[in-house]
Amino acid sequence: MGERWQAVDDYIDARLLGDDDALATTLVNNAEQRLPPIDVSAAQGKMLFLLAQMAGARRILEIGTLGGYSTIWLARALPDGGSLVTLELEAHHAKVARENFDRADVSDKIEIRVGPAADSLAAMDGEASFDFVFIDADKQSNVLYVEEAIRLGGPGTTIIVDNVVREGGVLEANSDDERIVGTRALFDMLSANPRLDATAIQTVGAKGWDGFVLARVR
Ligand code: SAH
Ligand code: DHB
Ligand code: MG
Repeated sequence: MGERWQAVDDYIDARLLGDDDALATTLVNNAEQRLPPIDVSAAQGKMLFLLAQMAGARRILEIGTLGGYSTIWLARALPDGGSLVTLELEAHHAKVARENFDRADVSDKIEIRVGPAADSLAAMDGEASFDFVFIDADKQSNVLYVEEAIRLGGPGTTIIVDNVVREGGVLEANSDDERIVGTRALFDMLSANPRLDATAIQTVGAKGWDGFVLARVR
């Protein structure tokens, strides 16, 4: 089925997304600089753009920058005066992302903070709150990241968590893959958290079979 999923994503991209030099060059630059090809797909990037606009997002937080492909989609959704903070562990990824932001002409809206996201988040105090949060880093930390998104957000904040299905791996209750353990802990946390309304949507496409959590702070 994977080939058909890819072919349908190609069809969607050709009809609804069109050519985009800055985003295409971002993926080429990422590959040249040996970043893994684990960015969101083009259709998913456009979905993030649309969701951020629908939410009226003015301050966006992203956890997990890589080469900034998703970051560029999100930054483009911001109104004049809007801003985005993106957190990345690897200095090399951040360097590549900065090149991509310059080429996409979105650098003035974006601040990258390099280091473990848990540390960057803990250091965020007294900063303006975030109204939209995209979580896409180390999956074992997803419970902490959602807790921090609630702390740094407020009523109405949108929270999206990528990669919560993993080819059905989420069903493996006895997995020793810490990404799956972390994802299952995330679902347990969401099911018990009275501050969030949440759902999860499975996806197929260029990135295989996966899915994302969509949540809103009450
Ligand atoms: N959001 C990107 C893809 C992110 S891939 C896109 O769709 O284009 C996941 C990224 O999270 C990688 O760059 C990885 O280095 C980073 N990461 C992993 N562990 C992290 C941590 N503890 N803190 C911050 N970033 C982390
Ligand atoms: C992985 C991480 C991602 O964010 C993703 O979208 C796909 C794969 C990974 O760590 O393997
Ligand atoms: Mg991801």
